[in-house]
Amino acid sequence: MNYLRISLQLTALVFLFTACTIEPKKKVPLEYQAGQKEFHRVCAGCHGADALGGWGKAPKLIQKKFIKENFSNGKIASTILKGSSSGAMPSQKNRVSDQTIKEIIKYIRYSQAQSGISN
Ligand code: HEC
Repeated sequence: MNYLRISLQLTALVFLFTACTIEPKKKVPLEYQAGQKEFHRVCAGCHGADALGGWGKAPKLIQKKFIKENFSNGKIASTILKGSSSGAMPSQKNRVSDQTIKEIIKYIRYSQAQSGISN
């Protein structure tokens, strides 16, 4: 009886967890897939699928304001590690490694180029 209840609760939890995961809508070449996966694990909950913006106040990252010339890789890395200067974005440092940050930035640059706002 108890086992049944526990397994039902676990099923519900797993369902909730997967239902909340934001999935990418775009397919990217193999070399960007690691970054795409990490972006959707760490950032997409706020920045939306494919970095195109979410429901909240986090901006889409696929816009001119955030292309390399206007917002360097170093600035993205420090935003991830320290949060945004206004404090509206909390630090993500406990959820990423240096390698993850590199992959995420590579993926964001690729997506910006693909969208035609940078190259
Ligand atoms: C908890 C929600 C949340 C998560 C998770 C999150 N962000 Fe943000 N991010 C925000 C918000 C809100 C802003 C707007 C902050 C502001 O205007 O100060 C923002 C702003 C930014 C900016 C622009 C900063 C600036 O100074 O204008 C960048 C770049 C960014 N996020 C990248 C990322 C990346 C990459 C990840 C994943 C590693 C990520 N964010 C995860 C909420 C989030």
